[in-house]
Amino acid sequence: FFEKIVAAPADPILGLTEEFKNDPRTDKINLGVGIYKTNEGVTPILKCVKKAEEIILKEETTKSYLPIVGTPEYGKLVRELVFGADSEVIASDRARTTQAPGGTGALRVGADFLKQQNVTGKIWISDPTWANHFQVFGKAGLETAKYRYYDKNTRALDFEGMKADLKNAKAGDAVLLHACCHNPSGMDPNAAQWEELAKLVAELKLLPFFDFAYQGFGNGIEEDAFGIRTFLKYNKEVLVASSFSKNFGLYNERIGALTVVSADKETADRVFSQVKIAVRANISNPPAHGAKIVTTVLSNPELRAEWVAEVAEMRDRIKNMRELFVSKLNSLGCAVDFSFINTQYGMFSFSGLSPEQVATLKKDYGIYMVGNGRISVAGITTSNIDALCKAIYEVLQK
Ligand code: LMR
Repeated sequence: FFEKIVAAPADPILGLTEEFKNDPRTDKINLGVGIYKTNEGVTPILKCVKKAEEIILKEETTKSYLPIVGTPEYGKLVRELVFGADSEVIASDRARTTQAPGGTGALRVGADFLKQQNVTGKIWISDPTWANHFQVFGKAGLETAKYRYYDKNTRALDFEGMKADLKNAKAGDAVLLHACCHNPSGMDPNAAQWEELAKLVAELKLLPFFDFAYQGFGNGIEEDAFGIRTFLKYNKEVLVASSFSKNFGLYNERIGALTVVSADKETADRVFSQVKIAVRANISNPPAHGAKIVTTVLSNPELRAEWVAEVAEMRDRIKNMRELFVSKLNSLGCAVDFSFINTQYGMFSFSGLSPEQVATLKKDYGIYMVGNGRISVAGITTSNIDALCKAIYEVLQK
């Protein structure tokens, strides 16, 4: 049966982590995968998470199954985080949330629902995008297409290209949007552009599907929901895949959520009954620990305030490293002006380095970044930044 199986290539992001682990060099630097690190180079468990775990350990009385879609309390807290507690969507009770195994699980459940229910056959995805997007939607059986997003020459959002390509979509197609902190470019639409996009997508009758993996890493927890909330002014039906990997540091707990907004409450219930089947067929029902942490933190005012402060600390450290990175590169007299990096949001920076330059950095300097030149700024520390900037300077001279 298996003779004909051809070996798959390594994953462009997680494969890099494997390679990094096997690299014997002691001064190696990993700027590949998007994992937050402190200035000491460790990925910490947030303090609010540890406290929530203590509460859970004390209070937990059973390991019995959760409902297929997770608990109603978890769903409510997720919706409040995404839409705002006083939003019209919540007041009119037309959004439903299912727990999902991470942001990827949420995207996949959403993709399965769209395919199984013939909601759409095609989804438009930004070029560039997260390395896994095409695979997640493609393997679910949806046709995928690309829209322009980033202009390599101006190193900025290609807003005109984006709109022109979306106009080629047919009514009924879906469009995947990064709600904030676009991965990998770090370039987000501004407020006026979000407004324009929201109107355009409604006019073109496309179904917006948001990947919301970095809430809190751009401008703030509330601020980062601006794009989604703007879309809801013009679009009655929206999907949102949330992830708590980054903003709660719960990477290996695989905790996320898919929220589907329908035009009215009655439709929301019908839709949700089918989303439930997509979950049941995939994972039967979700694991409890990550959801309990998120629920405990978000529903406890003290822990919630601590979480907001911890997210701000992560966001600020990344922003500081971004600024230091730019100023060090520019003061070395690099051939390229790297100031554009300060206009990017979130964990990543699209450095503009070519695949060849990325390969040289890995081979000659032990510096790992994604082949498309994406740097995880969260991996930069005051201890590795000088070596990193010097290496980039030297590679640019070659
Ligand atoms: C990333 O883009 O580095 C993260 O989302 C981790 C992953 O799963 O690829």
